[in-house]
Amino acid sequence: MLAISQYREAIIDYLHEKIQVKEPANLYEPMVYILEQGGKRLRPVLVLMATEIFDCDYRKSLDAALAIEIFHNFSLVHDDIMDDAPLRRGRETVHEKWDLNTGILSGDAMLINAYQLFENYEGKIFKELAQLFTKTAIQVCEGQQYDIDFETRENVSIEDYLLMIEYKTAVLVGASLQMGAIVAETSEDCKKEIYQYGRLLGIAFQLQDDYLDAFGDPETFGKQLGGDIIENKKTFLYLKTLESASKYEAMQLEHLYSINAGDNLEKIEAVKALFESSGAAELTRKEIQNYTEKAFKVLDKIDLPEVKKEPLRKFGEMLMDRQV
Ligand code: IPE
Ligand code: IPE
Ligand code: MG
Ligand code: MG
Ligand code: MG
Repeated sequence: MLAISQYREAIIDYLHEKIQVKEPANLYEPMVYILEQGGKRLRPVLVLMATEIFDCDYRKSLDAALAIEIFHNFSLVHDDIMDDAPLRRGRETVHEKWDLNTGILSGDAMLINAYQLFENYEGKIFKELAQLFTKTAIQVCEGQQYDIDFETRENVSIEDYLLMIEYKTAVLVGASLQMGAIVAETSEDCKKEIYQYGRLLGIAFQLQDDYLDAFGDPETFGKQLGGDIIENKKTFLYLKTLESASKYEAMQLEHLYSINAGDNLEKIEAVKALFESSGAAELTRKEIQNYTEKAFKVLDKIDLPEVKKEPLRKFGEMLMDRQV
């Protein structure tokens, strides 16, 4: 096994080799811009790690790992259009730097590129990878649609929210691990269990993403702080505040969310104060921990030697502590 940082380097090297600007430049420049501007590379690292955990050379899954990273970046380009986000990883978003049409088409081409990378596999592995990818990509679209619907829908429950984040985010984390397992041709049980580990970790990951969106450090976060509040996103923080706050505070929050105040700092600060005073911020941190622990329970059950599971556990712990 390599260290997480080494898997990250491997995927970055492979990306440089495969993704380059060509004509028409306006299609490919934004692609290289988003793909090369960094990011944590969590999903492709998981693909490579899972491959090795199941006793196969990680180099066999570089194409699948790159496909996942390109798909993820495609989803971010379109997500930033949908969320009207100005900033990503500390730089202008693609639709801000270029324009809307560029964001749409470069995103489309990235999605197709991701698919294309699976053509490097054959037979049973190809079929399983393609099936998992298709199922996952459709779920991501469903999750993204719920996310947008919830902005204006009344009566969103915590259960609705959890399903939404499972689809928009967690299934891709699960699929990343399962892809490694598919390339390594491990047992069906292991494939399912490693997927479940990733899915639960992915739910914790999105809860943390929502938390950081409100309470992250502006110096390092790289996205517009309070972006979810500006867009009136019904996050766990919001829903828990409605549940836990006094009637008066709940009304205040609903009122604040009924106005579109742009990037008005007063609204953001007022909403954050309610998230804190209601105890919802604390409850969100607890829920992140709960889901991470649930994930570890699933990991415990997987039929693998302890030393193989250790890097996956470390990865989960690292996610819980992240600030970006
Ligand atoms: C951001 O994902 C989108 C979510 C699903 C929350 P990451 O936080 O993994 O983004 P990068 O790739 O590291 O920038
Ligand atoms: C994004 O969720 C999920 C997908 C891109 C599929 P967010 O909208 O919370 O992600 P960020 O915060 O913009 O990275
Ligand atoms: Mg977004
Ligand atoms: Mg979004
Ligand atoms: Mg977010």
